Formats: sequence, structure tokens, C-alpha cells
Amino acid sequence: MTDATATHCSEIYLDANATTPILPAAQAAMIRVLSDNFGNPGSSHGAGIRARIELDRARAAVAEVLHVPVAGLIFTSGATEGIQTAALSALHPQRGAAAVRVLYGATEHKAVPEALAHWGEILGLTVELLPIPVDQQGRHDLSWLAENAKGAALVCTMAANNETGAISDLAGIARVLDALPVRPLWLVDGVQALGKLAVDWLGLRIDYAPFSGHKLHAPKGIGLLYVRAGAPFTRLLAGGGQEGNARCGTENLPGIAALGAVCEALLAGQWQAGALVVAQQRLKTALQQAFPQLVINSPSQHCLATTINFSLLGIPSKCLARSV
Ligand SMILES: Cc1ncc(COP(=O)(O)O)c(C=O)c1O
Repeated sequence: MTDATATHCSEIYLDANATTPILPAAQAAMIRVLSDNFGNPGSSHGAGIRARIELDRARAAVAEVLHVPVAGLIFTSGATEGIQTAALSALHPQRGAAAVRVLYGATEHKAVPEALAHWGEILGLTVELLPIPVDQQGRHDLSWLAENAKGAALVCTMAANNETGAISDLAGIARVLDALPVRPLWLVDGVQALGKLAVDWLGLRIDYAPFSGHKLHAPKGIGLLYVRAGAPFTRLLAGGGQEGNARCGTENLPGIAALGAVCEALLAGQWQAGALVVAQQRLKTALQQAFPQLVINSPSQHCLATTINFSLLGIPSKCLARSV
């Protein structure tokens, strides 16, 4: 065994908010659509119909996990594409306005503010992009939001943070938005919530929610965008009419089937991220015992069971990651 192999074999992979290994059931679903059901879901012959059945099956499983109508789900290449589509959809109707106010959580993934600035520029809009401050626990400052959201066209707040695990108070944000004379559109980045948090996407009247397969044991290159019925929508990709003409281009059926298999596993109760809370506490305790100078940065409450953010005083995180 070479040194490189030994290192690989002894590795415990802990970077699941960056990406995850593929679930065996998702791999099996991919192989099924790469071999038996390889057809194009747009074709009307047997192979096409079998592929269409795979597509419908996956969409139904995702809709059941998210408790949203199948008609509101668009398969995309990942969350970044879903965010672009949502930003374009929310900003497009603003053409002609003198200026457009958009609020986004200060701790959003870079894809959100970058997409807002990009589409604002493409559409020739003057976008006033304001970061919503967060408190020590990483939660949005709801008083600031209440003071600044009046007249906003769009508010963007992630469901949970990929770096710290902080879970946003979406019900609190919804109350602030409901109290405004005109409710802005609301984009909630659901990437770190899928399979980990129960979010009432419909009840909270969330307009757009992007998700990413590779953060939950499906492969890279598959994602989803949930769009509330009645929310403004402008497609990013025009072409052959796929996804109800909302996102054209031949479907990534292996990725879609894999994401469907992950959702079927969730529905069958095969794993529940919430149950990891005990393991999370054990790991925190072990780390604290091993490193007396350890500082836990993740919030003590309202934190994903799958995330611990910590620092060791005096040791840069890059050095720490390299030495593990
Ligand atoms: C919270 C959050 N939003 C968006 C993204 C982008 O996702 P994708 O890789 O599917 O484009 C990520 C990925 O790191 C993320 O963690």
C-alpha cells in the first residue's frame, strides 16, 4: 500500500456541507437509467415512456419530501442555476422601475448576492442591494428587516447556513413580510435544509426555493427549484419545451433518478439527519476534551445536527485541515 492510499483509507470525510458521497440507492437508480431506462423522456416510444416514468417518479418523491405540488418543481443543474432563475424571475418584472430594493442575508452563499447583482446589471436595473445583519447566533435581525423591507421587491434568506449550521427563523421572517403593506417576493435558499429540516414552504408563502442534489448524497450537476404557484417566473433556458417549458434542455435523467432515490430513502425513514444530534454532541465533547483552546462558533441552539463550526485559538483553519 502506498502512502497516498493509506492516507485515503484512513480518511474520515467531514466536509458534507461542501459535497457528499453518493447514496448506494442513488447509484443504483443512476445505473438503471444509464442502462435499461436510458431513453429520452421527450420521446413517445417505449424507451422514452420508460424514461418519462423515471422522471415522474423522481419528481413525485421530491414533492412528497418537500410537501409541495409537483407542478411547482423544476429540475436544474444545481442550486446556483436555481438561484439565477429565481433572481431573474423576481427582477424581470421590475424593468422600468427607477430603483429596485433587494435585501439578502449577510451570511448568504455568494451565489445569491452575485446572481442579484448580475441579473440587475443584465436587466439594466438600478438595484439597491442591502445585506440583512445577523446576530451572534447567525439569525437575521428581524427589527432591521421590519424597518428596511418596506418597498423591497425581493428578500433572500437562507434556511440554514452552510458554514455555521445556523437555522434561520423563517416563521419570524414570514411574520415581518406579512405585516408589510405590499409583501416582497421571498427567496429561501433551501440547500442545507433538504432532508435536514422540515420547512413549510407552502404555508410560509415562500416564492422561490433552490436545492442542490450533491449536498444530500445525489451527484453533482442536479438540483431543483421550487416556485410558488402565482410567483413571477422567467425561464433561464429556452428550447425544446422540457420541464413544462420552464427549463429547456434534455433532462439529466441519471441525476434526477438519483435525487429521486435519495428522496425515496428519506420517505422510507432510512435516515434522519435530526437523529445525528447525539453524535454531534459526542463529537463536540470529544473535541473540547482533546483541544482545551477550542471555541465552538456554531450557535448553541437552532443549529443543524449535521454541522459543527469551531476554531482552535492560534491555529489557522487551513493548517488544521491539512494536519487532520
Ligand atoms: C447554502 C448554499 N447555497 C448554494 C450553494 C450552491 O450550490 P450548487 O453547488 O448546487 O450550485 C451551496 C453550495 O455550497 C450552498 O451551500
